[in-house]
Amino acid sequence: MGKIVILTGAGISAESGLGTFRDEGGLWAQHRIEDVATPEGFARNPTLVHDFYNARRAQAAEATPNAAHAALARLQREHAGEVILVTQNVDGLHEAAGATALHMHGALEGALCAVCGSRWTAPLVMAPADPCPTCGRAATRPDIVWFGEMPYYMDEIAEHLESCDLFAAIGTSGQVYPAAGFVQEATYAGAHTVELNLADSDGSRLFAEHRVGPASRIVPLWVEDLLAG
Ligand code: APR
Repeated sequence: MGKIVILTGAGISAESGLGTFRDEGGLWAQHRIEDVATPEGFARNPTLVHDFYNARRAQAAEATPNAAHAALARLQREHAGEVILVTQNVDGLHEAAGATALHMHGALEGALCAVCGSRWTAPLVMAPADPCPTCGRAATRPDIVWFGEMPYYMDEIAEHLESCDLFAAIGTSGQVYPAAGFVQEATYAGAHTVELNLADSDGSRLFAEHRVGPASRIVPLWVEDLLAG
C-alpha cells in the first residue's frame, strides 16, 4: 500500500480524556457554536471565546496521547510509502506521540493577531486585552479556524487526496465539510477507503471498508495489518 492519507477527528482523542463535539454531552451540547466558534461570536464577546479556548487549551495540555496516536506515529516512521496525517483536531496529541500532522482547523497552541495576521505560540491563558507581539493591537485570537472561515492547507490536502492509494478517516462524524468530502475525493482518485470509528457516521456509506470500535484498540490493529501487508 503506497501513499496513505489519514484524516482524524475528535474521536481519536476521546480516550485521552478530551471531549468530542457531537457525542452525548459533547462540547456542542455545552456551548452554542455561534457563540464560541464563529468570527461573529468573537466580535460579540471575545472574553467568552477566550475563556472557552483557555479551558480547552488547559485540558489539552494535561492530556496524553493514547495507543491510536502512537500507532499513527509508528505508521509514519515504518511505512515504506508516504503517510500524510490531516487532523481536524486542535489538540497537540499527534505531535506528542511523535507524528507530524496538518492541522486544518488550527491548533490550541497557536495565537493569531486579527489585525496584522502575525502568529505566535499561545500562552496558556489568552485575554482580549493582550497586545499583539508584532503590531501591539489588542486583537489577539486563538489560531483556530471557526465556522465560516477557510480551513488551512486545503490546496496541499487536495493534492495528497488526488495521489493517494489509501484514505482512512478515524474518529470523525463526517458532518463538517470540507473534511467530510475527502473520502469522495480519494475515491475519485482510485484510492481504497476505510473508516475507523466507534459507531457509524454520516459518511459511513461512502467508505469501502469499516473497522468499528474504540480507536485505541482498532487503530493499532489496523496499523499492524498495514505494516505486515
Ligand atoms: N474511538 C473512535 N471513535 C470515537 C471514539 C473512540 N473512542 N469516541 C467517539 N468516537 C467517534 C464518534 O462516534 C463520532 O463519530 O468520533 C466522532 C466524533 O465526532 P464529532 O464529535 O462530530 O467530532 P469531529 O468529527 O472531529 O468534528 C469535526 O466539527 O465542530 C467542528 O471544528 C470542529 O473539528 C471539529 C469538526
